[in-house]
Amino acid sequence: MVNEITISAVFKTYSSINDLSEVDKQLCNEAKAILINAYAPYSNFFVGAAVLLGDGTIVTGTNQENAAYPSGLCAERVAIFYASSVHPNKKVVAVAVATKSNRLNSNSKPVSPCGACRQALSEYEVKYSSPIKILMLGENGEVYESYSVANLLPLMFSSNSF
Ligand code: THU
Repeated sequence: MVNEITISAVFKTYSSINDLSEVDKQLCNEAKAILINAYAPYSNFFVGAAVLLGDGTIVTGTNQENAAYPSGLCAERVAIFYASSVHPNKKVVAVAVATKSNRLNSNSKPVSPCGACRQALSEYEVKYSSPIKILMLGENGEVYESYSVANLLPLMFSSNSF
């Protein structure tokens, strides 16, 4: 017997950061403010991430590249690993990601976390049994919102899988 299943992802879109709640707006602004610290001499693509923890703490990070390309790390993982290292028992509530490209003909739309970052973020969603909101801020000021990481990662692998 063959079955076909459909897993749909749900996103909210905001035409401006000003349409967000104050908390979400602040988180997006923190992600945007830190992206100038990105070390991205190879891609010229600057990414800032801001992680909101359960007690209101915000931890930020940026992408860090390396001459040996695969040794670099995305902003989301820099931020979430740092957050978990410094605050190991604080629930992760939301992550905002802001980007700025110095590439020719670049995309100004919101950028969503890469597959490896979705997987890394999902670990904390499962750990705290609580959805992590993902806010994606485009250079054009638009914002996409996913209410959870699982929503971005259909059939995800987690500690519940084995
Ligand atoms: N990058 C991120 O920091 N986050 C993403 O979600 C996608 C990609 C970084 C990795 C690399 O430094 C640059 O963007 C180009 O891929």
